[in-house]
Amino acid sequence: MTSKRAIITGVGHYLPEYVMSNKELESYVDTNDEWIRSRTGISERRILKDPDKATSYMAERAALEALDDAGVSADEIDAIILATVTPDYMFPATAALVQKRIGAVNAYGFDLSAACSGFLYALSNGGMMIESGRAKKVLVIGADKMSAIVDFTDRTTCILFGDAAGAVVLEAGEGGGIIDFVHHTDGDEQCMLYQPAGGSLRPATEETVKNNEHYLRQDGRSVFKKATEGMADVSLEIMKRNNLTGDDVAWLVPHQANLRIIDATARRMGIDKEKVMINIGKYGNTTAATIPLCLYDWKDQLSKGDNIVLSAFGGGLTWGAIYLKWSK
Ligand code: COA
Repeated sequence: MTSKRAIITGVGHYLPEYVMSNKELESYVDTNDEWIRSRTGISERRILKDPDKATSYMAERAALEALDDAGVSADEIDAIILATVTPDYMFPATAALVQKRIGAVNAYGFDLSAACSGFLYALSNGGMMIESGRAKKVLVIGADKMSAIVDFTDRTTCILFGDAAGAVVLEAGEGGGIIDFVHHTDGDEQCMLYQPAGGSLRPATEETVKNNEHYLRQDGRSVFKKATEGMADVSLEIMKRNNLTGDDVAWLVPHQANLRIIDATARRMGIDKEKVMINIGKYGNTTAATIPLCLYDWKDQLSKGDNIVLSAFGGGLTWGAIYLKWSK
């Protein structure tokens, strides 16, 4: 079994240059730096300003860096899974655009839509492709240009999100890798966090645009409650299944939606704050990109054999956790 585990052999990222501070948001909506920092932990976020660039651009840059880190050339990749809720187009898949641009001539690719849990779903599914033996090298990308679907006149949402991409290369290896995962979906709460128009149910019309229905909508308080419970519960679930205590876990890699949600998860898991990867202050919630961005930011501090729990919660509702043993 161990010979067919999927291990992460390369990590890459892309962050747009433009930094949007809380102060700048004060000029768009009735908010202030103190409120945003104390309620969310966010100080600034990156915004992809160039109107000719979108999610595929950030995904491409992160993918190339991950390939370089792994020492793998693009033509060795068998499959590309790109998690996003902000694809360049409804179709073709953004994965296809990335496949072309990076020169992954032997890969098939598709997008995966699971909002903030997207990267975890993509990573576990990429892992199963490797474990089955059907793929030898898989590129897993989480990328979102949230600024494209955020309403910068809505103070309850525009303060939360940022743009970024992260990517990893998965290969078969020994002595670690993706050991276990738990994923959940609950469509009952589909409208707690969603984009009302632009899909086949409500195609874009003059009216939908006038009503700002092409922007993300969120019932913040309800999502907060669900996310706090869900992320902690699923993290404990994966620890229990694998007989891990808080002391056994070297790192918690939480989705970065709100610092208060992250703190509550770490507390329930019995994990010290120094073992929790937190970069929400600099980037905000970058949806599918938060977890690979953390892996990138902390990659020099990871050691072979580290037990890592990745955990996320998002629209759908979707939530999940992965138990990974670092093996790079
Ligand atoms: N600046 C200043 N005041 C704001 C504000 C802002 N940007 N946004 C909301 N407020 C106000 C509200 O209008 C409300 O005022 P009221 O009491 O007069 O009605 C007050 O602040 C409290 O609002 P509330 O929604 O209860 O705040 P909160 O503590 O729940 O924080 C969020 C709001 C959005 C930060 C929080 O609910 C959250 O993080 N939710 C989850 C987000 C998330 O995880 N989304 C992605 C899922 S992965």
